[in-house]
Amino acid sequence: MAKQIVETPSRALSEFELHQLIMLPGYKTAGMTPGSTDISAPVVKFSRGETPKIRLNFAILSSAMQSVTGAKMAIGMAQEGGLGVIFCSQPIQNEAAMIKEVKRHRAGFVVPDTVSPETPVTEVIKLADEHGYSTFPVVDDEGRLKGYITKNDFDRKRHANLMVKDRMMPVEKMTVAYDDEIQDSLAAAHEKLIVGHHGSLPIVTRDGKLKYIVFRKDVEHHFDNPLAMLDSEKRYLVGAAINTSDYKERIKAVVEAGADILFIDTSQGHTDYVKEALQFSKNEFPGIPVVAGNVVTKEGFEFLVSHGADAVKIGMGPGSICITQEQIGVGRGQGTSILEVAEARGEYFEKNGVYVPIIADGGIRVAKDITVAWALGADVVMAGKYLAGCDETPTKVKTVARIIDGKAVEMREKPYWGEGSDKAKEWMVAGRYGQNDFPEGVEAWVAYAGTLKNHLAQAKAMIKDGMRKAGCSSIKELHEKSVLQILSPGSIKEGGVHDVAVDKN
Ligand code: IMP
Repeated sequence: MAKQIVETPSRALSEFELHQLIMLPGYKTAGMTPGSTDISAPVVKFSRGETPKIRLNFAILSSAMQSVTGAKMAIGMAQEGGLGVIFCSQPIQNEAAMIKEVKRHRAGFVVPDTVSPETPVTEVIKLADEHGYSTFPVVDDEGRLKGYITKNDFDRKRHANLMVKDRMMPVEKMTVAYDDEIQDSLAAAHEKLIVGHHGSLPIVTRDGKLKYIVFRKDVEHHFDNPLAMLDSEKRYLVGAAINTSDYKERIKAVVEAGADILFIDTSQGHTDYVKEALQFSKNEFPGIPVVAGNVVTKEGFEFLVSHGADAVKIGMGPGSICITQEQIGVGRGQGTSILEVAEARGEYFEKNGVYVPIIADGGIRVAKDITVAWALGADVVMAGKYLAGCDETPTKVKTVARIIDGKAVEMREKPYWGEGSDKAKEWMVAGRYGQNDFPEGVEAWVAYAGTLKNHLAQAKAMIKDGMRKAGCSSIKELHEKSVLQILSPGSIKEGGVHDVAVDKN
């Protein structure tokens, strides 16, 4: 007989959200505005009274999955105040290249690809086509700015035999700014761009060496993203997933590429393998925080924390594309997992004075699931499906024929597949599901969701409204004050549209 049979059913996050559990309204004061509603949370541990090293301005991570988080998604997530975690189911050098691509962007200050005066124009055409850039600074062997060449400076056919120096705009005719004059201030660079009527501004040292280019469109974009997650050099923060197979080489490569935080990416984190990867990382790279997981029990949380985890990721089976529970019969409802691990986090804090954040990974279908996950006790959520339809994923939008209510309709969708699916494994060098001969995830489609910016703007509005109506101004208050109630089948029906004929829109 099994050691124990837990007779209380484990509850899914969606089951809570989906008509089973709802937040009761709380007292909402006049001072509670969208601007004062705080959706930030720590994502690494901190001692009582101290400030965490990384606090997300929007407590959400994008999943470390091939179909979700490449460099573009990671930049977008950081711009919105969250964090993207680059997937590790790819060769080490590819993951490192994605991290480098994110770190190349310094919230408005870009370290550009350069060409030399002797570069053939054909080479510039090739670079422009490969990278999609239209402006290249021209520098000499010592990095001194000599000019600019843009795609408007040459004709692809007529000037194909010329060199950059024959067609470039020379530095003497350009507006440049000195680094000590701009002092890393985007506002100062912006002012100079406006006064000079320019679209871009090179920033050079007093001895003429190129440091950055500031593009006007990037600066304006940055001013639109006041919540952006930046490091001390104003570069976007980025997370890197690592696995328990090649972690020794992978950690070194992703840390050298600039990763700010590591995520040990396994479906079962209560193992010797995760312990070893965690210990290795902490010994070799003590300055880099490590999130470990996934676990779904109090014992799992305590195990990872005792081996140095800076945060713990929760979830086994709740992912939209996950078939782990069906395939192997191990897992837990996400709602129950969050409740139990949140209790363990509280006990650990009481005893040791160290707050170890917990991340609810998987099961987020709609914006209100995020609020419910926080209310249940999560500090941060991690989402795959909820973000997989956005423009910023590495996948392409397709028009797909579907039968809905017996009628054929064309839907705009994006592909979304599990890291344990056969498709993901084709690419994997080693990893969390790599050892198994059977799939633990499926290949699927999600509705196209437009830009990440618009998608998350709507999410933030709905989440903040829900928090305020529940009488809570922050995630901490959700943990302490929110009241959740289970709905009866009748109240579920009552809570939806009922007894009316709805117009088709
Ligand atoms: P979603 O947000 O519900 O789509 O869940 C995403 C999460 O599912 C990821 O962050 C992973 O933790 C997990 N996951 C990703 N791929 C697989 C898989 O193939 N099988 C099981 N879980 C997966």
